[in-house]
Amino acid sequence: MAARLTMNDIKVDAPELDSIELDLFVQALQKRHGYDFSEYAPASLKRRLRLLADQLHCKTITGLTERVLHEPQLLPNVLEGLTVPTSEMFRDPAVFRTLREKVFPLLASYPLINIWQAGCAHGQEVYSLAILLEEAGLYDRSQIFATDLSDRALQRASEGIYSVKDAQQWSRNYQAAGGTHSLADYCSAGYKLIKLNQRLRRHVTFALHNLAIDGVFCEAHLILCRNVLIYFSDPLQDRALALFRDSLVRGGFLCLGLRENLNPSHAAQDFSPFIESARIYRLPTQAEGAHA
Ligand SMILES: C[S@@+](CC[C@H](N)C(=O)[O-])C[C@H]1O[C@@H](n2cnc3c(N)ncnc32)[C@H](O)[C@@H]1O
Repeated sequence: MAARLTMNDIKVDAPELDSIELDLFVQALQKRHGYDFSEYAPASLKRRLRLLADQLHCKTITGLTERVLHEPQLLPNVLEGLTVPTSEMFRDPAVFRTLREKVFPLLASYPLINIWQAGCAHGQEVYSLAILLEEAGLYDRSQIFATDLSDRALQRASEGIYSVKDAQQWSRNYQAAGGTHSLADYCSAGYKLIKLNQRLRRHVTFALHNLAIDGVFCEAHLILCRNVLIYFSDPLQDRALALFRDSLVRGGFLCLGLRENLNPSHAAQDFSPFIESARIYRLPTQAEGAHA
């Protein structure tokens, strides 16, 4: 006679339960608010979800799912918790130095320079780039398109106001990036805050753009997307890299974060390393493409 199953026999072990809750959360977020996190790397997404559940006093991820469904005002907090909008000015200064010394001289040959900064978080990289372009005499023929999926992050980015406690480190980064003035020349300090000079915004357009669902953005000569792909699974990284390839002019540059590379991507085959140590890649120029 077949043994009867009891409820104890069909218990689901903890890791699997985690994955079920994660899937349900992702579906709820997509169906209710249109944000697709289904292709984010699950391990880090789970970690951030647990943290967020904790911060919002939810006992489980399912508790968080319920709140996401019924409390739309929570969405900005949820996006912030899931996407980690942390950054700093002149982050990895050697990369900015390389951009300034090796990439800017090549960009200088274009009458107008379009730069797309994807995943701009609170804007620290945007202002860093604007400062270096200004010092290289290129800013007045540049346009920076700074995008992110988070409205709140873009709002913070356009304000350009940061805690003064970061200023010393950022000032050191600026010098290490080859800055020729003093960072203080580009900001004013108030009570515990610094505000970046709003003149630096004159060639910046902030816009919502989601690398998981949106299309080609502009015809860019340089794209920076640093410390974003690291949160994506391989197919989403491939999608984003194909988007960058299709948005770049021939001979255009792509700069990724130091912990990122082109490896898992089909689109990678279209790029050549330019300065690998700084994770700067390049599409072949028209002439190189013809000889390939
Ligand atoms: C860790 S921050 C990186 C900030 C900056 N690029 C840097 O390296 O300092 C990651 C940013 O990517 C954004 N992001 C995450 N997923 C995105 C997506 N699918 N489309 C556009 N931006 C995204 C987040 O909102 C966040 O602001």
